[in-house]
Amino acid sequence: MNVTNRLEFPTAVHWHGIRLENRFDGVPGLTQDPIAPGDTFRYRIHFPDAGLYWYHPHHREDFQQDLGLYGNLRVDAADPDYFGPANREQVLMLDDLLVGEGGLVPFGREAATHALMGRFGNLLLVNGEPEYRLTVARGEVVRFFLTNVSNTRTFNLSFGGAPIKLVASDVGRFERQAWVDSVVLAPAERYVVEVRFDEPGEARLVNRVRAIDHVYGNYFPDETVLGAVAVTGEPASPNHEASFRELRGHPDVATDIDAYRDEFDRPVDHRLLLTLELGRLPDPLEPLLNLDRSFFNPVEWSGTMPRMNWVTTAGPVRWVLRDLDTGLENDAIDWRFRRGDVVKIRLRNDRGAVHAMQHPVHIHGQRFLVLARDGVPNDNLVWKDTVLLPAGSTADLLLELSNPGRWMLHCHIAEHLESGMKMVFDVAAGPPPRAERGGVVPTRQAP
Ligand code: C2O
Ligand code: CU
Repeated sequence: MNVTNRLEFPTAVHWHGIRLENRFDGVPGLTQDPIAPGDTFRYRIHFPDAGLYWYHPHHREDFQQDLGLYGNLRVDAADPDYFGPANREQVLMLDDLLVGEGGLVPFGREAATHALMGRFGNLLLVNGEPEYRLTVARGEVVRFFLTNVSNTRTFNLSFGGAPIKLVASDVGRFERQAWVDSVVLAPAERYVVEVRFDEPGEARLVNRVRAIDHVYGNYFPDETVLGAVAVTGEPASPNHEASFRELRGHPDVATDIDAYRDEFDRPVDHRLLLTLELGRLPDPLEPLLNLDRSFFNPVEWSGTMPRMNWVTTAGPVRWVLRDLDTGLENDAIDWRFRRGDVVKIRLRNDRGAVHAMQHPVHIHGQRFLVLARDGVPNDNLVWKDTVLLPAGSTADLLLELSNPGRWMLHCHIAEHLESGMKMVFDVAAGPPPRAERGGVVPTRQAP
């Protein structure tokens, strides 16, 4: 992939979720020098895992990605039966854009604006357009490949009441398919769902969330239409109703995970607290923020404090990953692993932070399982590269170290990354990961 930079800013392209060679990971200052305006960088990328990936600049994402620099990469498995039958497939990239009366609300040249909550847009976009349209025959099964490419917005998507079957996420399929009412996607997360439209008419693609009135501390429902699927009276052919009704298991996924089940109960290896440090803020903000502490959503679904948010830049706002065992923070953290290691990482999102909100945490170059949330084990696993942590919540990740190099772990809210919420870990050379050792599960020595 030859990337030529025709911007007037330095840049680099990150291939999100792909377990590629470290030197092509696209992180300026870590894996490469930024690509200067006019220059070209050649990325050599290989694709070890089927899944839905995406690429975006890894330099000032807050404006480069927000202005449209993103795309999907879909890696299909060799197995023709990997997904169930569907009448069609649709790739949807979900985004938002912040538009004011005079056009786009300006971005910061030297530093990101909206450092507190991230830049929420007021115009929702599907594949860069404000109104998504699709026409299907009655009874069609559509497989949607969903990616959230927004700076900070978490979506809660549904298809006008049509049944939704959850099939896959970031790095492949779930252990088994499941019915869901809606799909929650944090920035950088991907989901593959199948939807059957059996009612003629219009099924609206809706983002349904719960917002907060920060002045009065009330919650109010907030619903935005992203587009619509027109369902004609014509019956779909072929008719996939029978196969759609069935929830399939994915035994090959479960087998791949089997190599790690004896590590699910291992002690926690590393603990990270996600929190916030505030310097001096412009005057009216401080008391407002303190007042705001008593009202909060575990997920900040929409930008309901726009003015307060805008004036905050990365200067006074410092989002923090704190290693609870060493006390070190962000770039000072120095985790070292060896290829073939398996570790448990506990992430806790500090409910007590002055502005607690959710953080989508992304790990480069590896894959992980979300074993448990708030102590409740997850009984339908899927390999992930990004996990959403609502405010006040805890998640236990089992991280498979399969890929040597220097890799990032960071919050995928563009403005939080710009205000420090990132760290680097090191993976030295070592044996291949267990899942690649011919399916042999290493046995432990008897005590
Ligand atoms: Cu999608 Cu470090 O990024
Ligand atoms: Cu964050």
